[in-house]
Amino acid sequence: MAEGCVPAALRVPDVVARKGDGVPLVMVTAYDAPSARAVDAAGVDMILVGDTVAMVVLGYDDTLHVTIDDMAHHTAAVARARPRALVIGDMPWMSYHVSREETVRNAAALVRAGASAVKLEGGRKRLDTIHAILDTEIPVMGHIGLTPQSIHAFGGFRVQGKTLDAAREIVDDAAALAEAGCFAIVLECVPDAVARMVTDAVQVPTIGIGAGRHCDGQVLVFHDLLGIEQRVTPKFVRRYASLQADAVDAVRRFADDVRAGRFPSSAETYHAADAVTDALGLHNTARVLA
Ligand code: KIV
Repeated sequence: MAEGCVPAALRVPDVVARKGDGVPLVMVTAYDAPSARAVDAAGVDMILVGDTVAMVVLGYDDTLHVTIDDMAHHTAAVARARPRALVIGDMPWMSYHVSREETVRNAAALVRAGASAVKLEGGRKRLDTIHAILDTEIPVMGHIGLTPQSIHAFGGFRVQGKTLDAAREIVDDAAALAEAGCFAIVLECVPDAVARMVTDAVQVPTIGIGAGRHCDGQVLVFHDLLGIEQRVTPKFVRRYASLQADAVDAVRRFADDVRAGRFPSSAETYHAADAVTDALGLHNTARVLA
């Protein structure tokens, strides 16, 4: 690419075209403009404004506490960063479960906030919902395996698809989602053999999280990857930084500097002109400190 040339924004068809091209897709979550700028500058393909915002930003123990207004608020913040990556808005619990009308209105709210596609959880039981959203020309990303919005039904955050029957259910769900028109499917916390079967069975990219390497792409949560959220570390998370520890260290050094009178320095201070301080009968602190 010529120097200074800005790469074109990624679109849904670009993502679909990447199936089987040998270069895995990269998706990372972001919830605000600075995190969106960071992941976009790093060159990710897709930014998911995930409902994990409930856990890693808002301090809840699960994802069930965010509303469509919360998700639109965070999606808009990400979109204001004008990322090149495809922005996908996550539909929160109860935003697509009540009626077709509410579902499409809620999907549209995420698009109006700046998403180019939406993601929702569930397999074959979501087909009508997916058709309704696709009917409004909004692309849909599926999400099966461990679907965190089903935490109470599952009895916790547990690996799914461990028995033969459960594995077959997941493959059948994936095939149905792809057939319905989902442009990609997130596979969360399933054995790698199941992810491989799904990836081979569908014509659209699979994006794994805790699903092993036989997927067309991988996704991690921004705060997990950077070590900002350290309350729980699932087995599948690889930490590339320890920003929470760095933040504690930096703030502690700031507090030490303030308490010891080392902050602010003269260079970090606005000074009045000598004539003004002299006329006021004040010592010019810049000169005193210099
Ligand atoms: O909400 C989210 O961050 C997600 C990812 C874990 C796939 O759904």
